[in-house]
Amino acid sequence: MFETLKAVPPDPILGLTEAFKRDPNPRKVNLGAGIYKDEQGRVPVLASVREAETRLLREEEGKAYLPIDGLPQFREVARDLLLSREHPVIRDERVVTVQAPGGTGALRIAADFLRRVAPEATVWMSDPTWPNHPNVFRAAGFRVAFYPYLDPQRLVVDEARFLDALARIPAGDVLLLHGCCHNPTGADLSPEAWEVIAERVVQQGVLPLVDFAYQGFGDDLVQDAWGVRRLASQVPELLVATSFSKNFSLYSERVGALTLIARDKTSAHVAHGHLKQVIRTNYSNPPAHGARIVASVLGDSQLRPLWEEELAGMRERIRGMREAFVDRLHAAGAPRDFSFLLQQKGMFSYTGLTPEQVDMLRERYAIYMVRSGRINVAGLTPKNVEYVAQAVASVLQGG
Ligand code: LMR
Repeated sequence: MFETLKAVPPDPILGLTEAFKRDPNPRKVNLGAGIYKDEQGRVPVLASVREAETRLLREEEGKAYLPIDGLPQFREVARDLLLSREHPVIRDERVVTVQAPGGTGALRIAADFLRRVAPEATVWMSDPTWPNHPNVFRAAGFRVAFYPYLDPQRLVVDEARFLDALARIPAGDVLLLHGCCHNPTGADLSPEAWEVIAERVVQQGVLPLVDFAYQGFGDDLVQDAWGVRRLASQVPELLVATSFSKNFSLYSERVGALTLIARDKTSAHVAHGHLKQVIRTNYSNPPAHGARIVASVLGDSQLRPLWEEELAGMRERIRGMREAFVDRLHAAGAPRDFSFLLQQKGMFSYTGLTPEQVDMLRERYAIYMVRSGRINVAGLTPKNVEYVAQAVASVLQGG
């Protein structure tokens, strides 16, 4: 049977990491997958995480299965980090958080759950979006459509076009939004746009689903959650996929959560049962280690401030690299003003480079980036930023 299979292309993001590893060029730079690297180009184990792991090793009582919906302490801290402990939906018991294997796992649980309640819905996503978004929802059986998002000239959100398109999304459809640090563009919605979205989705009967994978990488933990908390206050129903891969640097531990807000306590309870069934039939129950780390850091009065400091450090380093990159591009004579990179938030930036220019950067300079022109700014370091800026400038000047 397997002989009949047609070959599929490598994944546009994780496939780059594979190609990068094979590249023998000593100057190679990986600006592909969204992974934070420190000044030395290493993926750090945070000190707060290391300490939590040391404690776990000492205190862990066993490795029995976790409950289907995950570790209770983790579910609570994940919910509170997202919404804040004081949010009225928590008091009203309208919210359920289940543990998920990473943000992607949370999206897939959301997708399989939505097939039960809205099998005919179209899932609307931004053009452009993370390339795995359409794949996850199509794999779950959904139709996918795109709304305009980016002004291609100015590389900022075209809010007027977006809101206009939003007005035409039919009742019962699903609207996928990025909570902050839009992937791939780094261009975020303004607070005013979030307000309008919150009003419109209620009026139109559209279900919002927020992918929130970068909390703390934009402005700070609270500011980054502004839009999603606003939605939570205003809409009757909401789904949010969160990830701890980036803000805890726990990529390989696959730790994330799906939060569901329902119209009332009874429907939240019933929906919780369905989420558990979706999980049980997919992978039974989640892995424990990452969730234990997050629960232990967020629930500890010493580790939590340490983690917040480390998170701020990652955010600041990325900001610093944005500035350094813009300066170096200018100094290298890039025939374009790149100061828009300073307005973009989080790990990613849309450079405006064409797929052909991206290919040229890989072939001539061993600089790897997604063909959409997205770069992972967190892959730039004081050591490689000059090299990358000169290569980009030279490619823009025609090679
Ligand atoms: C990215 O967009 O690079 C990350 O979210 C990693 C991934 O899974 O694609």
